[in-house]
Amino acid sequence: MVEKTVESSSGKAPETGGGTRPQRLSQVRSAEGRRLTLGLPEFDRVLGGGLVPGSLVLLGGDPGIGKSTLLLQVALRLAEYGQEVLYVAAEESPEQIKLRADRLGSVSDGVVVLPETALDRVLETAEELRPTMIVVDSIQTVYLTALESSPGSVSQLRDCTAQLLRFAKQTATPIFLVGHVTKEGLIAGPRVVEHMVDVVLYLEGERFYQHRILRAVKNRFGSTNEIGVFEMTDSGLRDVGNPSELFLAERVRDAPGSAVVVALEGTRPILIEVQALTSPAGYGTPRRVATGFDATRLQLLVAVLTKHAGLRLADQDVFVNVTGGIRLVEPAADLGVALAIASSASGIPLDPTAVYIGELGLAGEVRGVHALERRLQEAARLGFERAFVPASSRVASLSAELRLIPISSLAEAVSALAAQAVRSRQNGSELSPG
Ligand SMILES: Nc1ncnc2c1ncn2[C@@H]1O[C@H](COP(=O)(O)OP(=O)(O)OP(=O)(O)O)[C@@H](O)[C@H]1O
Ligand SMILES: [Mg+2]
Repeated sequence: MVEKTVESSSGKAPETGGGTRPQRLSQVRSAEGRRLTLGLPEFDRVLGGGLVPGSLVLLGGDPGIGKSTLLLQVALRLAEYGQEVLYVAAEESPEQIKLRADRLGSVSDGVVVLPETALDRVLETAEELRPTMIVVDSIQTVYLTALESSPGSVSQLRDCTAQLLRFAKQTATPIFLVGHVTKEGLIAGPRVVEHMVDVVLYLEGERFYQHRILRAVKNRFGSTNEIGVFEMTDSGLRDVGNPSELFLAERVRDAPGSAVVVALEGTRPILIEVQALTSPAGYGTPRRVATGFDATRLQLLVAVLTKHAGLRLADQDVFVNVTGGIRLVEPAADLGVALAIASSASGIPLDPTAVYIGELGLAGEVRGVHALERRLQEAARLGFERAFVPASSRVASLSAELRLIPISSLAEAVSALAAQAVRSRQNGSELSPG
């Protein structure tokens, strides 16, 4: 429930500018190719290959996650290339911005800070200055004087966004809006703002990790599957060109309950460690707890493991954790998650040089996944030696180093695990006889 006052000036649709004559589509000038490169490759990728002129981008995120840092960094980078950026500081003083800029390293003349919350003044300044890019930090703190409601209210948000949208389209100036996220995880304020803008980005991260993930929720100019990975350092956010290495850095090899899966985030495969732990349950229903993995999917996998691989989990609590604060949404991770659980339940470590790729069906079958080759390439690149893949997929081995092991059912994979334990025990006795 949101209380709102009806106001006279609101509700006017934004004019799109450029006249209202009908135009043949073939004669409309294409904006592609004129994308603005922001100098942070991860950011550019999430935007779909740079910033489209005249686009309105909403950047949401939890308090203190680094929204202002990211946008100031982009502003400073553009300024280095001789562009002018208007940074509307509606939340912080220019001194605070300066402090942050000093920390980020370079301060050049191109960034103009405007400590102003009245949007009318902001638009006037923008009209005079005609900057290459505008950052409004944040959309919840600016207001239009014509409206009586307070900043951040439904009508203020909608009208402010509409005004900025009109400016962006008329002048082909890209505008970034910072939006705060509510406790429920939505960008605060009405969803109507999300509908009005061209791109909605979320900057996410776990409080205890240094890395941040930039995700597009909506993008009129690119895929919403791409993610950008950054690392928060004292000199700002740094591109992580190679996320798999980051996510696998702290892996404990030869421990039961750990499996490496290959998740596809957008066009990029990322190797992630999944950990599982089973422990005797107390009274009542045993718990199935997942972090970074869908809880319903976990229950399903536990049922499949019980029914088709003969695992006894009815009196066990099962915990699954996807490391690095990543969320695994793809079913291609099923096989890895299930085997991590089987490994923890049996106390047998999985092969640390192997990756596990495959979706599990309710009949215990291992089903094919898309873009298998790309996933295998990434695994090979990171030095993995074996890959468990769905038997149905016809992919020839990509390199001599990465051996493919086709798996058709979960039962087969679990018995391979047991066989491996026997093998390693034999190897051990060879090494130390007696
Ligand atoms: N000296 C520092 N060294 C390392 N990291 C720092 C330093 N100063 C700030 N940070 C990081 O920057 C984050 C704050 O960044 P920023 O102010 O850009 O966040 P924000 O999302 O804009 O926050 P708000 O919601 O308050 O506007 C801190 O949480 C911290 O992680
Ligand atoms: Mg901020």
